[in-house]
Amino acid sequence: MSAAITKQPVDIQSFESKSAEELLRWALTTFGQRVALASSMSAEDNVVFDLMWKINPKARLFTLDTGRLNQETYDVMDALRKKYNVSLEVMFPDATAVEQMVRTKGLNLFYESIENRKLCCGIRKVEPLNRALKTCDAWITGLRREQAVTRTALTKVEIDTAHGGIIKINPIADWTSEQVWDYIKQHQVPYNKLHDQGYPSIGCEPCTRAVKPGEDPRAGRWWWERPEQKECGLHVKEHK
Ligand code: ADX
Ligand code: SF4
Repeated sequence: MSAAITKQPVDIQSFESKSAEELLRWALTTFGQRVALASSMSAEDNVVFDLMWKINPKARLFTLDTGRLNQETYDVMDALRKKYNVSLEVMFPDATAVEQMVRTKGLNLFYESIENRKLCCGIRKVEPLNRALKTCDAWITGLRREQAVTRTALTKVEIDTAHGGIIKINPIADWTSEQVWDYIKQHQVPYNKLHDQGYPSIGCEPCTRAVKPGEDPRAGRWWWERPEQKECGLHVKEHK
């Protein structure tokens, strides 16, 4: 399928009333092997993958291995491979770019400034995402509106202008955390054991910590930064 399909007008609002399953069925039928789930192995992403796999067991998923993930996250990758017999597409950062970054700025540069943190996320996450998306006319995420102040206006389907105008599908945008966990329990979906240790949101090991009961779910991500800065550049909106 050519990327030209995405240039056709898409009635974004018409998708808002669709269920996650309906959206995924539409995406997998329309884009086939040119659509993939971007998965961080979070509870949300695993729910979306379970729904996708039940529609098409050949549905694609890729993950961005930054090189700084928790062992528990790698354990989820293995659990998915075993349960679904899936060929997980693991994307690594460009080795030369990482070598140069740590040689000049150190291994723990992200704690020193927002600029350094964004540089690290840019090299370890954003560039590999851009590479993965070159194989896609559409991509799927586990984003939810409830997750962050930066996500309240999220739509279920969007035109991703930051990635060449491909389609971005957020099938569980309107789900609550309870819905996610009910689904996980009901369908025995593998999940990251760090979720049982107070981590509602999990990214890289040095940039994620547990939160206290009642604290904002993303308080443990880049905890030294202000809430509106806590995005790593994977989900960018271009404003004209
Ligand atoms: S982040 O931008 O702060 O890192 P978050 O962890 O909330 O994002 O995840 C939001 C969505 O981004 C996930 O549901 C998933 O679709 C995608 N995503 C985040 N991290 C990764 C990753 N390491 N690999 C693939 N997709 C990811
Ligand atoms: Fe680097 Fe932290 Fe971003 Fe991971 S989350 S890519 S370690 S700055």
